[in-house]
Amino acid sequence: MGTLKRTIINPFKPTAGAEPPVLIGRERVIDDFRDGIEEGVGAPGRLMRITGPRGSGKTALLTELGDIAKSYGWRVVDVTAAGSIVDAIQHELARTSDNTELHLEASLGVVKAGVSKSSTGPETLRGVLTRVASQETQHGAGLLVTVDEIQDADADDVRLVAAAVQHLIRERKNIAFVFAGLTMGVMDLINGRALTFLQRAKAEELASIPLSDVSDSMASTVEGAGLHLDGKALEMTACATRGYAYLVQLVGYRVFANARRHADRDASISLEDAQKGIEDAYGEFEGSVLDVALADLPLRAIEYLIAMAKHEGNVPTKEIAAGLSLPPASLTATRRQLIKAQVIDAPSRGMVRFSIPLLREYLLKSSNEILSRY
Ligand SMILES: Nc1ncnc2c1ncn2[C@@H]1O[C@H](COP(=O)(O)OP(=O)(O)OP(=O)(O)O)[C@@H](O)[C@H]1O
Ligand SMILES: [Mg+2]
Repeated sequence: MGTLKRTIINPFKPTAGAEPPVLIGRERVIDDFRDGIEEGVGAPGRLMRITGPRGSGKTALLTELGDIAKSYGWRVVDVTAAGSIVDAIQHELARTSDNTELHLEASLGVVKAGVSKSSTGPETLRGVLTRVASQETQHGAGLLVTVDEIQDADADDVRLVAAAVQHLIRERKNIAFVFAGLTMGVMDLINGRALTFLQRAKAEELASIPLSDVSDSMASTVEGAGLHLDGKALEMTACATRGYAYLVQLVGYRVFANARRHADRDASISLEDAQKGIEDAYGEFEGSVLDVALADLPLRAIEYLIAMAKHEGNVPTKEIAAGLSLPPASLTATRRQLIKAQVIDAPSRGMVRFSIPLLREYLLKSSNEILSRY
């Protein structure tokens, strides 16, 4: 019986950036991207912006789009805006280009002693992108550049990259550019000066995944891993994810782990397995996501959130002020701080909503405990 346990492997991947067993609910954006590659220069799918809250699946989607581009023979450069994206792109392309050039020279039997690339000086970003995109286009392929966490990038760097991409499209090269980041940060960035080109990018906001898709996918993922999930246990498990990518993996992982312990006796996930798994997953989510999001906030911001949690959906900021018996204007700075911290966002003027799933429920349930930390 020990062997059975060992061969059943938990298929869920509750880790940031980890490739999920199935990318649920992204068929349309994947089709758009594929169309973009096939349709040629100027196709809208070649310029995309992916936005969403933390854990909504931006990085996983970028990875998938990169894999698709590679399957068409395209070269893919993935950078994350931790340092300079211009340096990162140049570095990546310099590194990945060396082999092909050496290979080409060797196969032509050309001996170019003493001639090195550095003798012509360092390439500019536009230079390196033009060289690689032209090479790839000549071979019937193309170049995909992806930038993750773009909200952290320097606006001047983004402007340089955007200008180079725009130039290459005009030159009829096969180039695609996909960037991803937190919704508010990305909107602030591209609404800034001279980034109109990026405003025209095909927008994909990673809202919650329909629960019916989550349910179908979880059932088949569990089945594929050797256990069964159906009926009420499936419904409860799918519902608990809120259609939020990270929770699909976290809840799936915990529910599966409970059932795996009795897999040698019974391979079906029971209602108790599901219940207990959801509880475990939520506890972990509170610690690893919700408490982290609240950790650096001052008391006034916490009070704001607790007053906000009394209402469902989009909340008028006036209601929050009334709940705190304060003039609305006195809360402007607090609201801005919460938006900047990506805890809430403003879907329209005078309205706010929670950016993180389960935060409202957590605030309602644990307000005393949270306030006692101050
Ligand atoms: N479409 C999807 N279906 C199911 N699971 C997904 C999907 N997309 C991502 N995931 C899973 O959700 C989790 C979060 O994904 P990912 O790291 O891509 O999110 P993110 O939006 O990049 O988050 P962050 O803003 O923190 O970087 C991972 O465990 C990943 O495996
Ligand atoms: Mg990410």
